Amino acid sequence: MDKKVLFSLRNVKKYFPLKKKSIFQKEQLYVRANEDINIDIYEGETLGLVGESGCGKSTLGRTLLQLYPATEGEILYYGDDPTGENPVDLTKLSKEEIRKMRNDLQLIFQDPYSSLNPRMTVGQIITEGLKAHNLIKKDDKDSQKYILDVMEKCGLAPYFVHRYPHQFSGGQRQRIGIARSVALNPKFIVADEPVSALDVSIQSQIINLLLDLKEQENLTYLFISHDLSVIKYISDRVGVMYLGNIVELTETKKLYEHPMHPYTEALLSAIPTTDVENKKKIKILEGDIPSPINPPSGCKFHTRCRYCTEVCVEVVPEMRELEPGHFVACHHPLGME
Ligand SMILES: Nc1ncnc2c1ncn2[C@@H]1O[C@H](COP(=O)(O)OP(=O)(O)OP(=O)(O)O)[C@@H](O)[C@H]1O
Ligand code: SF4
Ligand SMILES: [Mg+2]
Repeated sequence: MDKKVLFSLRNVKKYFPLKKKSIFQKEQLYVRANEDINIDIYEGETLGLVGESGCGKSTLGRTLLQLYPATEGEILYYGDDPTGENPVDLTKLSKEEIRKMRNDLQLIFQDPYSSLNPRMTVGQIITEGLKAHNLIKKDDKDSQKYILDVMEKCGLAPYFVHRYPHQFSGGQRQRIGIARSVALNPKFIVADEPVSALDVSIQSQIINLLLDLKEQENLTYLFISHDLSVIKYISDRVGVMYLGNIVELTETKKLYEHPMHPYTEALLSAIPTTDVENKKKIKILEGDIPSPINPPSGCKFHTRCRYCTEVCVEVVPEMRELEPGHFVACHHPLGME
């Protein structure tokens, strides 16, 4: 089957300027949240993104959706182009053009509660988005039916339509957040830690809902999580991030069975195998995560890597396709010597 590219990210960089400490500070410092991101996202896939806290996962999701302007690089979107030859570079669009595209490109948050207006009922919350995008004009019967259909798809009973967010559990609130996004009939959704705040027993229900919706609605996901078991379950391919860079990218099975980047190997060795209930954040690696303001030279992982040699300290490793579809940025990829 030919895979159709939906997004192509080319040398995407996102820096956040830091406030200067004094008027004598000459140099402008930046948090280098995303550096040299080069990935394709295929239509219909779930691309998982994993890495330690602060490595830049959310920033990448938000930059992709143009919620943050990219500092550099191109974000080519092929969704509006059936020929696949004339993508739109999202970074070049005006605010108004982006706004028109918003319904195609949606974000699901970790904590939907903070984004659900507490004074609106579920029905009003879903209607609001539809009206903002001119997808419904007035509250007629057809719109009501559409909203109830979307709610049903997302596992929300019809009589919930008049209830307020605080009357729901965490899992149900996440369903409301998902319903609000899915109602807009999007093509692509960034799901940023959508189950991390939920009980383990509820997590799988929400993940299965997302998987069902993906099939029914032909969606493509960028699924962000620091939980390797969740990522393994939901993703077709996985990108591993370290300090702003993607260091390894391949099919899920390959990544888990045959990791080639030392950082991926270290992450995987830390998956709790028996203690499923224990969902601690990943922090198994020796040494602290270096600062993204002044990252290490050469390979950013060299300060913590047990395979580090001289070249690693000096030369930035390029991302290379070492096996078909298996991309690795390392001077000494595992299993190659
Ligand atoms: N709006 C912002 N302004 C300044 N710095 C930011 C901003 N958003 C993120 N950062 C910084 O960019 C880096 C990457 O943050 P990001 O939130 O993308 O990481 P993450 O991988 O999503 O982490 P987590 O797993 O904790 O959600 C961090 O150092 C963070 O402090
Ligand atoms: S380039 Fe060197 S330091 Fe970086 S991950 Fe590979 S072996 Fe380790
Ligand atoms: Mg995040």
